[in-house]
Amino acid sequence: MEKIKRFGISVDKDLIEEFDEHIKKKGYKNRSEAIRDLIRDNLVSDSWELGEVEVIGTLTIVYDHHKRDLTKVLNEIQHKFHSNIVSVTHVHMDEHNCLEVLIMKGIGEKIKTIADRLIGTKGVKHGKLVATKKEF
Ligand code: NI
Repeated sequence: MEKIKRFGISVDKDLIEEFDEHIKKKGYKNRSEAIRDLIRDNLVSDSWELGEVEVIGTLTIVYDHHKRDLTKVLNEIQHKFHSNIVSVTHVHMDEHNCLEVLIMKGIGEKIKTIADRLIGTKGVKHGKLVATKKEF
């Protein structure tokens, strides 16, 4: 049986009204689910710093493949960490830009390191890692 713990919180009227409006737009039926998601998100963010938990997630990067050696450098990094990269999807966005989505899994700290290396490579225009713990 699932254990549920109820708690009360005090929030400014304006803040909770704004929050209610915000979560309604996002499709939440009630505050509880929205707050649960915020808590989970916060715990996952902090797990990067702990670096000890197993995570699974996606890294999205956008880059210009005409940039000298960039494709080669990104490819080398990905091969170096092949055991953490489950799959890669490459989309040619236009004549210049490529979008790549990598599915990665492993220890949080390692996944964050790989993501930082790829995002930090000169010429990568945009990058974002979205990951979650495998177990809550
Ligand atoms: Ni491409």
